[in-house]
Amino acid sequence: MFAVISDVHSNLEALTTVLADIEQRGIKTIYCLGDVVGYGPNPKECLDLIIQKTKWCVLGNHDYAVFYEPTNFNYGAEQASFWTRSVLETEQEASSRNRRWSFLGELPMRRTLKARLGTNSAIVDFIHASPRRPINEYIFPDDVYTNPLKVRILFERVRNICFVGHTHLPGVFLEEPDFYLPDELGNVYPVVDKEKAIINIGSVGQPRDKDNRASYVYVDENEANFVRLEYDIATTMKKIMAIDQLDDFQAERLREGR
Ligand SMILES: [Fe+2]
Repeated sequence: MFAVISDVHSNLEALTTVLADIEQRGIKTIYCLGDVVGYGPNPKECLDLIIQKTKWCVLGNHDYAVFYEPTNFNYGAEQASFWTRSVLETEQEASSRNRRWSFLGELPMRRTLKARLGTNSAIVDFIHASPRRPINEYIFPDDVYTNPLKVRILFERVRNICFVGHTHLPGVFLEEPDFYLPDELGNVYPVVDKEKAIINIGSVGQPRDKDNRASYVYVDENEANFVRLEYDIATTMKKIMAIDQLDDFQAERLREGR
């Protein structure tokens, strides 16, 4: 069994809720798809937990923005990146500061695992955004209708299963192309031998599918299970609103799940 989490976005209340749920299920292995930071109020604490609790993490566009530079960000996201960077830079304790910076600076673009999923053996890729542009290409559910060619081209780069985050919209893309919401699947996608799937696991710290609960996926045998969890949104919102450099919109959107 393993769990996959993504897009924590410095939301400590959501992250601790998800980690507790994973622990309670007896799952020992956690992989993270990036965007640990950005938008939210607790970058240090979230980085520390991800470093401590996950087996590995890949690079997201917000992690890139904080460590290198923001590219193509709107004003609010850019301000949040600069604020996050200043929080990490002004850490007084050198060992904590260095540990967090080296973690961000060493994040890979992708990780791959040969896994036994039930009776199937599958090559599983872990990427923040998309198999061809690992840190910044959005794969939207609508793409299967509006840009099917794009989705087919993406599938050329998928061997069996590819876990992604980035859009903060959970669901499963199939090669047809097709897209299924977790609801339509009864929250379970059974991995079928030879069938390719791009599985978006949704976001822990900033869901955008009009459901404000934290989202993640765990895999048991050949089944990818979508999980949603309520967390203390009011506390996270209060923290965001108390920080000048973080736009109040970043708090509002948590309540609305957008
Ligand atoms: Fe994100």
